[in-house]
Amino acid sequence: MTIHVGFLLGRASGPTSIMADILEAVRAQGAEATLHLMPGDLSIPTELFGADVVALRGLSLAALEAAFALERAGVRCCNTASSTMAARDKRAAHGALSSAGLPVPQTFFAESWQEAAERAGGRAAVVKAVDGSRGSGVFMTAVHGAQGRPSFPPPYLVQERIDHDGFDRKLYVVGDGVAGILRRWPPTSLREKLGIRFDPALHLRTLALAAAQALGLEVCGVDVVEGASGPAIVDINAFPGFKGVPRAGASIADHLLWVAQREAQPCAS
Ligand SMILES: Nc1ncnc2c1ncn2[C@@H]1O[C@H](COP(=O)(O)OP(=O)(O)O)[C@@H](O)[C@H]1O
Ligand SMILES: [Mg+2]
Repeated sequence: MTIHVGFLLGRASGPTSIMADILEAVRAQGAEATLHLMPGDLSIPTELFGADVVALRGLSLAALEAAFALERAGVRCCNTASSTMAARDKRAAHGALSSAGLPVPQTFFAESWQEAAERAGGRAAVVKAVDGSRGSGVFMTAVHGAQGRPSFPPPYLVQERIDHDGFDRKLYVVGDGVAGILRRWPPTSLREKLGIRFDPALHLRTLALAAAQALGLEVCGVDVVEGASGPAIVDINAFPGFKGVPRAGASIADHLLWVAQREAQPCAS
């Protein structure tokens, strides 16, 4: 029987997006791949209830809630709807990472700008929107005391600003694989945007896999900065764009097909 991999997406993706590579790789292996856009319409396409696995990417909160219907009907989603939701919510994500004992910057949540500025007490801090959905603009600004003010509304996640070399270690996880990109933030050129590939050392691989596991994510990006006291996880994203990661589309396709095969033959060990 042909394996069916469904893709439920919040927005259309361009020809150079990771999606094009994933679809091509899934189809090259003889599986059926169907693409469904769910920007605002909140009913899940009926066809997806027959899929062996459904990849969720870029969905709105409401669309994600609707995606739970797939899981309730026994359809395996990758990442799961609940882990995707946890990753979107920076409060939930921070809670999961810190309860797993992983290194995260000191963080507090503030309901107003005044509270954020008062509690930051003049220390170098980074302020982020709690709902980290993409496409909502800039999520962070640096504050020193009460100066500046983010362009986004509260609640705020206020984080100790870790002094580092200006480069993110972007760790991209697919299943139990980890790829690394060294990327300057913010990038000032196309070259810096693409970043440089690097082979993550064992401690970074272990950290990325533990972060993914803490949220229950299979396909994710973990942003790490290296401070004086070691690496700190500053962000985690479900199903990112894998920019600059070689063969990312093929490895995501392999992972989806592996999951789908297990779902299609639940008795196989
Ligand atoms: N606590 C922090 N200390 C130092 N740098 C940070 C901190 N948090 C974020 N950054 C920097 O800001 C960048 C963007 O923040 P991030 O939380 O990843 O938001 P997003 O990716 O949603 O824009 C990070 O990639 C990192 O370079
Ligand atoms: Mg980030």
